[in-house]
Amino acid sequence: MERSLVLIKPDAMQRGLAGTIITHLESRGLKLVALKMLQLDEALAKRHYAIHKNKPFFDSLVNYITSAPIIAAVFEGKKAVEAIRETMGATDPAKAKAGTIRGDFGLDIEHNTVHGSDSIETAEEEIKLFFTKEEILGY
Ligand code: RTP
Ligand code: MG
Repeated sequence: MERSLVLIKPDAMQRGLAGTIITHLESRGLKLVALKMLQLDEALAKRHYAIHKNKPFFDSLVNYITSAPIIAAVFEGKKAVEAIRETMGATDPAKAKAGTIRGDFGLDIEHNTVHGSDSIETAEEEIKLFFTKEEILGY
């Protein structure tokens, strides 16, 4: 079954939206198979967002994602990667549709509440950054 990494970002944690976001994804039929709360250090933040290292927003993004605790989760389901991206909505909350997580809760293009892997290959790499095999539970 397909898996994807979800991060509940600092702006969501600070506004008490963790439960709402998990419920949103569970309601979509996705199964929660791993979960932890942590505060990213600079090294892990830079590895997770390595693809953006030459972008003008990289330093600001690393600063933001390390600014408060986050929740990392693995969700499993049919076409999980695509289903989660659809449930999250567009990167810029101003462009995200109403009813999506970012459309309803995102603040701006940086403080956009949630992360989801953008392909099956990326998901596999990202999950390994946050979880050991033993921390992903089957039920
Ligand atoms: P994510 O990786 O967090 O799921 O977001 P995404 O795929 O929708 O967007 P991506 O292009 O991968 O960008 C990663 C994160 O960087 C911040 N960002 N800031 N200031 C800007 O123009 C800008 N663009 C992107 C956002 O937090 C975005 O989610
Ligand atoms: Mg991305």
